[in-house]
Amino acid sequence: MKSVGILGFGKYVPEKIMTNADWEKLVDTSDEWITTRTGIKERRYAAEDQGTSDLGVEASKIALKDANIKAEDIDLIILATCTPDYRAQNCSSLIQNKLRAKNAAAFDLEAACSGFIYSLTVGKAMIQSGMYKKVLVIAAESISRIIDMQDRNTGILFGDGAAAAVLGEVEEGYGIISSYLGTEGVTDGTLRIKAGGTRYPITQERFDNREHFIEMNGTDVFKFAVKALPYATKKAAEQGNIDLKNIDMVFPHQANLRIIKSAVKKLGIPYEKVYINLEKYGNTSAASIGIAMSEAIDEGKLKKGDLIALTGFGAGLTYGSLIMKWSK
Ligand code: UT7
Repeated sequence: MKSVGILGFGKYVPEKIMTNADWEKLVDTSDEWITTRTGIKERRYAAEDQGTSDLGVEASKIALKDANIKAEDIDLIILATCTPDYRAQNCSSLIQNKLRAKNAAAFDLEAACSGFIYSLTVGKAMIQSGMYKKVLVIAAESISRIIDMQDRNTGILFGDGAAAAVLGEVEEGYGIISSYLGTEGVTDGTLRIKAGGTRYPITQERFDNREHFIEMNGTDVFKFAVKALPYATKKAAEQGNIDLKNIDMVFPHQANLRIIKSAVKKLGIPYEKVYINLEKYGNTSAASIGIAMSEAIDEGKLKKGDLIALTGFGAGLTYGSLIMKWSK
């Protein structure tokens, strides 16, 4: 089996900063509540003329440059997103066009906040099968467009951003070692946008009821997350025959500091090994793990041979974990 890993990495976050103080002006909330319950201080929102594809393109350009390859060398683009520019047209096709990646097939992968882990896993399998050589995995979200700015329960959690990774063959023994993907499907409103799909097309009444925005049962998602994150990480470690003690750094989905602390405690992983930047960006859904990794790389915190674990959960409910030996 070929060893498949990351050849280049990039991230992009929009310029506009939305602080907790800004949210205080919109709903009955406080910086103190948001900070103690979530750890989030601020998040980024896409500009009016930016769609998710634009964020993805910016992150991809950096990743391609970092990998030192041209867009036309990419065979496949996988975009993890739950906030595409349009419905029915895949958003990865827009990115393929804007990057002029003319030799790449492109599809979107919808696994909500677990999307980056799912997409890296699919990309790796595509390369190992011999079908493709270079796969561009992108996670990009503009969650600010689907949150209800009148809903303090969900609105304060999310932000926009993108990360991109060029996958290809790496030195033997390096790259993605194992991954575990899971789904605990629910059919209720635990975490979804109710209206605008095929079951409940948008009507004036549903629009007036604000059903075209995210609805979430925060407590149920919280309870799911604190079980799913450690479970998936243990499973991925088992599959890769890895002792969790040897993990150098963990990149969890940046949803809530309390969820992250509970998960790593259950895993017995020291908190110092966990990379956290949710105070700056909030929950950027599929993009959050990639944005965290990109910042760790920029800060020189990852070195060749480091064992890292990515772990996430999201709507679906989906969850997953992936372990890799850093190869750059
Ligand atoms: O990518 C996955 C995305 N989803 C998540 O990660 C969500 C996971 N869940 C969570 O992070 C937490 O459940 C929340 C941060 C959403 C909520 O924290 P909590 O400690 O579970 O609070 P709670 O839902 O138990 O609410 C406590 C109180 C409620 O008031 P009452 O009913 O006790 O009077 C809420 O109405 O806090 C109230 N509340 C707020 N107060 C001030 C909810 N949101 C806010 C707010 N500011 N923004």
